[in-house]
Amino acid sequence: MKFISIQKALDKKKGKVSIRGWIYRERKLKDKVFLVIRDYSDIVQCIIKKDKVSEKIWNDANKLLIESSLEVEGEIYKDKRAPTGYEINVKKLNVVDFAEKFPITKDQSTEFLADNRHLWLRSRKMTAILKVRSTVFGAIHEYFRKEGFYEYQSPIFQAVQCEGGSTLFHVDYFGKKDVFLAQTWQLYAEPAIFSLEKIYTIAPSFRAEKSKTSRHLTEYWHAEMEVAWGSFDDIINYGESLIKYMVKKVLEKNKKELEILGRDIKKLEPTVKKKFPRITYDEVLKLLEKKFKMRIPWGKDLRTIEEDKLGSLFDLPIAVTRYPKKVKAFYMKEPGDSDPKKPVVNGVDFIAPEGYGELIGGSERESDINKIIKRLKEEGENIKEYKFYLDTRKYGSVPHGGFGLGVERVLAWICGLDSIKDAIPFPRTMLRYKP
Ligand code: 4AD
Ligand code: MG
Repeated sequence: MKFISIQKALDKKKGKVSIRGWIYRERKLKDKVFLVIRDYSDIVQCIIKKDKVSEKIWNDANKLLIESSLEVEGEIYKDKRAPTGYEINVKKLNVVDFAEKFPITKDQSTEFLADNRHLWLRSRKMTAILKVRSTVFGAIHEYFRKEGFYEYQSPIFQAVQCEGGSTLFHVDYFGKKDVFLAQTWQLYAEPAIFSLEKIYTIAPSFRAEKSKTSRHLTEYWHAEMEVAWGSFDDIINYGESLIKYMVKKVLEKNKKELEILGRDIKKLEPTVKKKFPRITYDEVLKLLEKKFKMRIPWGKDLRTIEEDKLGSLFDLPIAVTRYPKKVKAFYMKEPGDSDPKKPVVNGVDFIAPEGYGELIGGSERESDINKIIKRLKEEGENIKEYKFYLDTRKYGSVPHGGFGLGVERVLAWICGLDSIKDAIPFPRTMLRYKP
């Protein structure tokens, strides 16, 4: 038998086909057995008629349980009643493995599905998400490469923090204590712009997030970029066009998956078509007060609730800039026109619509070495550990900047998921690190 995918068999519409896959559903009647078979591409209904097949095939068919693997040959034809509109009348059937009783049945709790994640990956929902995920990873590589970026890797074991000490994962490194898992590639990426100028990566980042929210993982995939000579506007432009590119690719390649996920693609179209609004932190405070009567004192960070309210005013991501200096990381640049009484930084957060939160965090990088040292000291850091980083500001420093994009945040939004946990095959959170 020469096997074709179920999708190809459906496209063929009639004639002899050979397919292979797993049993998705089965129904056994007195003189016929209905099997819905799935493979990576789709599902198709098959019928086995007692009087049309050998005794062995008939007996095998009656023993088959869900998730058994098998090879099938038969005639495909149109049948309105079948789930994908076609049916295969089975002539030959080869059972590759008789599955034991599959633990996942209908209506199981989220916890049960999480415990059986290795099996739940086979669901149509997870299969669809994983396909979109593959498109998004591909799109990120394509985007940066077409823009002339080099792919570059930072170490995962690091002795520095970049996004605050409270979310560091400590590692026992041969008895040494101050070793952490990377929160970001950034501090090891900045030294490399002096050789490659435009660089990007997709790598896991680790955050010891104690929050049990629908948008935090402890291990997530982080797409980051850093660019020499880049202005603050350049950084925002790259962020906007990367998001547009990812969504465009998913709309091109994954219409079927979005449909399986029940995602309304109209909600994604404005992202591709319209320019992202760019607003300052000060404007955000005014908007929140005007539209929702929310009074945020100047200098407070935007929390989930504020980001969600803000996001609800738009049908595409927005870029929020000029945050108060004290709520942002030590490496962000204070622009020349920053008010000394209310100092701000050239940091940008891209906030998704529909309550999916921050997709991108980025900034122009501070060029004044003394300002960086002052901030690090205020945070109680040992400056010696940052020598390699501070050297970037000593030997031919240039204006530069970059951003990080949470791939699972983007996926959760694109796919319209209830939780970020479904955007990654095996999610890691405060409460879950198995299977
Ligand atoms: O805003 P963050 O912390 O920025 C940085 O790490 C910078 N060093 C990036 C850079 O400039 N190179 O994180 C960047 C993005 C966030 O916007 C968010 O999308 C995602 O990473 N992110 C998380 N995603 C899932 N789970 C978490 N716990 C996340 N924390 C951040
Ligand atoms: Mg951030």
